Amino acid sequence: MVAKGESGKRSKRRTGRSDSLTVRDNRTLREYVLPLERGALRATELRQIKVSETDPGLLSYDPAFQNTASCQSAVTYLDGAAGILRYRGYPIEELAEKKSYLEVAYLLIHGTLPRPSELAEWTHQITYHTMVHENVKKFMDGFHHDAHPMGMMVSTLAALSTFYPEAKKVHDATLRERQIHRLVAKIPTIAAFAYRHSIGMAYIYPSNDLGYATNFLAMMYRPSWTTHYDPDPVLAKALDTLFVLHADHEQNCSTNAMRVAGSSHADPYVASAAASAALYGPLHGGANEQVVRMLQEVGSKENIPKLIRQVKSGKRRLMGFGHRVYKSYDPRARIIKRVADSVFSVTGRNRLIDIALGLEEVALSDDYFIRRHLYPNVDFYSGIIYQAMGFPTDMFPVLFAIPRMSGWLAQWQEMLLDEEQKIARPRQLYVGASLRHVPG
Ligand code: CMC
Repeated sequence: MVAKGESGKRSKRRTGRSDSLTVRDNRTLREYVLPLERGALRATELRQIKVSETDPGLLSYDPAFQNTASCQSAVTYLDGAAGILRYRGYPIEELAEKKSYLEVAYLLIHGTLPRPSELAEWTHQITYHTMVHENVKKFMDGFHHDAHPMGMMVSTLAALSTFYPEAKKVHDATLRERQIHRLVAKIPTIAAFAYRHSIGMAYIYPSNDLGYATNFLAMMYRPSWTTHYDPDPVLAKALDTLFVLHADHEQNCSTNAMRVAGSSHADPYVASAAASAALYGPLHGGANEQVVRMLQEVGSKENIPKLIRQVKSGKRRLMGFGHRVYKSYDPRARIIKRVADSVFSVTGRNRLIDIALGLEEVALSDDYFIRRHLYPNVDFYSGIIYQAMGFPTDMFPVLFAIPRMSGWLAQWQEMLLDEEQKIARPRQLYVGASLRHVPG
């Protein structure tokens, strides 16, 4: 029997179509034909499955969105089984080799690689929005000297909202574009200011004659008594490539936070503060920091078996391993290993790389990791490179947030322009107390 009612009629028409699912409700013995779109079932189709007229209908239950697509997106394609990552259709390997971070940021946000004139205009806009209001400096001065730079960044991004009240007009395309320029441009400045604050050194203003990664390195490391600083071009190129690799990763935790906060039509400054807060956690962008701490604790290759035993007994996780989507090698980790070689040719070899390579070798041949499809992810090697480049460990998640800003903004804009999207508001299965009364 096919279910009656409005949805039932819709389902009946589709009976026999191959792109559908026939579901039998054993509670009522009714059968439903539910349409499939792009290999997915719309969760709202389940609502027609009821045991009585007053039943609100069947819900799907999916803690942590393990098997739920929350949107349709044309930004990033990820095949976790095959280890494929593409931005707007372009393989990450080709982008990392042939394109700069600013070109990739343009690609993510606009959907196409920039023509030369578009790149010139985009670069101009990003370059000329790098300055922050002087009061932002005062705001950052208020942090304690040992404040974590990621905490400073989360707060400062949110504070920018108060400087640009026009940003609330999220449906105005021109204003949206202006905030996009500002956020992509200012995030390296905020990141570098957070670092300078932590070491008690004067802030270094951005230089309009430097490229995106080079300017960031100059704001981080230029001594305040000189106006000239030339970061090593190999290190600047390596950092730019790391920015390309981290720019987007479809519906990860922080991107989801950006979309959820943005779905209430909050401005992009507070929405990206929410996204960076999500990135801060050790299971997401904070993992690179934890990897280095873990490798330092291991200290030498001889101690690897002890760590592996602790991981296998469930006492701890092997940081930088495993991924919700990748069930084979993370393609970014493969590229990062090559970047490491170029960085070490300038800085000298970071001894942690040998421990990391040893750890990877042991883990990849161990049944525990093989059975669970646990491979190194992007964060397993990125921290070692950042450390070799002189970045303090606290700065690692900040270095992840800088390029991820372009991905967040691309996804935020896509969400706003998607007619199917509404304010994000999941349902729940209530498991609390049933009605009870306050005594007396
Ligand atoms: N070390 C040891 N065991 C692990 C690890 C790990 N790093 N990751 C997953 N497992 C085990 C886990 O214990 C579970 O085993 P069992 O089935 O016996 O209970 C199984 O593998 C599945 O794990 P899960 O927690 O259900 O997997 P998840 O998809 O929910 O978690 C993850 C994904 C990335 C949070 C997790 O793999 C993890 O905690 N990794 C370490 C942190 C890390 O490197 N994060 C960076 C992710 S890449 C950058 C980014 O996108 O943010």
